[in-house]
Formats: sequence, C-alpha cells, structure tokens
Amino acid sequence: METKLSQLVKAAENEITACKSLHELMLLKSRYTGKKSEIMAFMQQLVALPKPERPAFGQKVNIAKERVIELLNKQEEIIKEEIYRKSLLENKLDISMPGRKMMRGGLHPITRAWREIEDIFIGMGFEVAEGPDIEDEYHNFDALNTPQDHPARNLSDTFYVNDDVLLRTQTSTVQIRVMENNEPPIKIISPGRCYRNDNDASHSPAFHQVEALVVDKNIDFADLKDMLNIFVKKMFGDDISSRIRPHFFPFTEPSAEIDIVCVKCKGTGCNVCKGSGWLEMGGAGMVDPNVLEGLKIDSEIYSGYAFGLGIDRVAMLKYKIPDMRLLFENDIRFLRQFV
Ligand code: PHE
Repeated sequence: METKLSQLVKAAENEITACKSLHELMLLKSRYTGKKSEIMAFMQQLVALPKPERPAFGQKVNIAKERVIELLNKQEEIIKEEIYRKSLLENKLDISMPGRKMMRGGLHPITRAWREIEDIFIGMGFEVAEGPDIEDEYHNFDALNTPQDHPARNLSDTFYVNDDVLLRTQTSTVQIRVMENNEPPIKIISPGRCYRNDNDASHSPAFHQVEALVVDKNIDFADLKDMLNIFVKKMFGDDISSRIRPHFFPFTEPSAEIDIVCVKCKGTGCNVCKGSGWLEMGGAGMVDPNVLEGLKIDSEIYSGYAFGLGIDRVAMLKYKIPDMRLLFENDIRFLRQFV
C-alpha cells in the first residue's frame, strides 16, 4: 500500500507540474484531494489494516495529501505568475514614455491683486464689506453728496438701467451701505466691480476698485496718509511711497488724488509714468460731514477718511501689464503667464 501511495504522489507531482492552466489545475485538485480521490480511498482502506498499524499509515496518507496540496499551491502561483507575465508582454506599457502634460489653471492677475490687497488690509484690522453692482442713484450719488447737476451723473459717463437704477460707478456706494447699518468705529474695505462709459488702454467699461472707510473719534488726515503709505509699501515694496495732490470729490472734504512713486523707474521718469516719476492710483479724502450727518452719524464726535484705489491699476503695475484691455480679453496666451 505504501508503494501505491508513493506512486500516487509521484503521478500527482508529474501531472501537477506539467499543468499550464488554472482550470486544469482545479480539476487536478479535485481529482487528487477531493472526496472521491484516491487519497481519500486510502483513508477508507485504513479500517482494513490491523489496528496497531493504522496510526502510522494514517500519518503517511496525511503527509501524502499535504504534499499534493503543497504541489497544487505552488503550481497555482507559477501559473498565475505566467499569466501576469504574458499580460505584461501583450499590453506593452512603456513606463519611460513622458506623461501627458496636465493643464494647470491659475488665478487671473486681477484676482491675485484683489486677494493680496484684501490680505494686507485684513492684516491691519479691516473687515471686508460688500455691496451690489446694480445700485440706485441714492447710494451712488445722493447719499455721497453729489449734486443733481454733477457731470458724473451724466448719461455719457454712467450706465443707467432706468431713471433711478444704474451700474455703480464707484465702490464708494459701500461706504453708504456700511454707515447705514453700522455705528462707528468703522474700519472696512470693499473691493468690487464698477462701471463707467470709458474704453481705452487705461480704462475699461467694467473695472475694479477697492474702497476703504475708517470712521471713529479723532481720525484725521495724517491717519489717511499714513495708511496709504503703509499699504503702498506692503503692496509694491519699501522703496515705493505715496503722495497726495489736492482734488475734489463731492463726498470728501478735503479731497485728494493719490499718486505712488513709479514702480518702474522709481521716480526718475520713464515711459510708464510719462516722465513724471509718479503714477495715479485713486482718490481719497476726509469723509464730508454732510455724508456722516445724512447717515445719522454725529460729525461733531466722529470723523473719517476714505479712499478708493483701482485694483486693475494695482495689477497692471504689480505684474507689468502695459494695456488694461489685456486684463479683460481672456486671451489664453496672456493668462497662461500667470500660472
Ligand atoms: N470714488 C472715487 C472715484 O471713483 C474715489 C474716492 C474714494 C475718492 C473714496 C474719495 C474717497 O474716483
């Protein structure tokens, strides 16, 4: 019986190691180790043996069975390995080939400037306020102390939706909205889109401004100048300072225009600043007491300053963009430079 057993193992070994498919291997498995297999038949023959011989023989049968199982498992590995190897050869993958380039998006230069401006002011304790692009005359003109006959109200400068509704021409509208709803102390900026009937290399009919408004006790012109200088240096670098020139706005008194040292020539005069050494950045002033009183803020107790800067202008200077129209044409060749 023992020789029969080892013959059986031998036969199994030959068949298993010659086997090339998983399916055939399964068949061999059931033939050699299944319930009706020859090995199991040996087990049944145990009873025919004299009792003392049974344990030793039983052990041998078990060893034979384990050996066959081991052979089966090993062959399964070999076959799987072979299948994998073949599939690699069939679906050739050249891992040395350069990958396809992923197109990466970037932030628009205006968005970048906008966010940087916000970060600077938030860092100095300002809150960000918002107002609607579509406004009424009250917030855009009346509450800003702008007389009925002021040229800015002109149809040729302002886009009207109807007699009373317009596209805001300035973010100063948000000054009014904030003062309507808040008591001093107020310290906000308000970046946003504005609209004016203008279109050339340095004006776009839709453009971006950031307004700043600070209202509190004892706010004076020095605070305004100081804040402008701090901002300009943080935005453009320590060698860029600002200056103010007298000007007029209906809602500030006194009013001023803000210039900064030309970021290109640093003040010596070049094509960007048209030889003057200075660049115009926006308007500013002390909030006119009329505006405060109109919003029920006691101008005997409180004073404030406001300024409005062109975000597009900041972006153009920061990223050396020569023509404002580039910012709005969405030419991918231009935008790609800001990835
Ligand atoms: N709103 C003014 C403009 O659009 C700028 C400005 C803002 C002036 C705040 C004074 C104070 O030109």
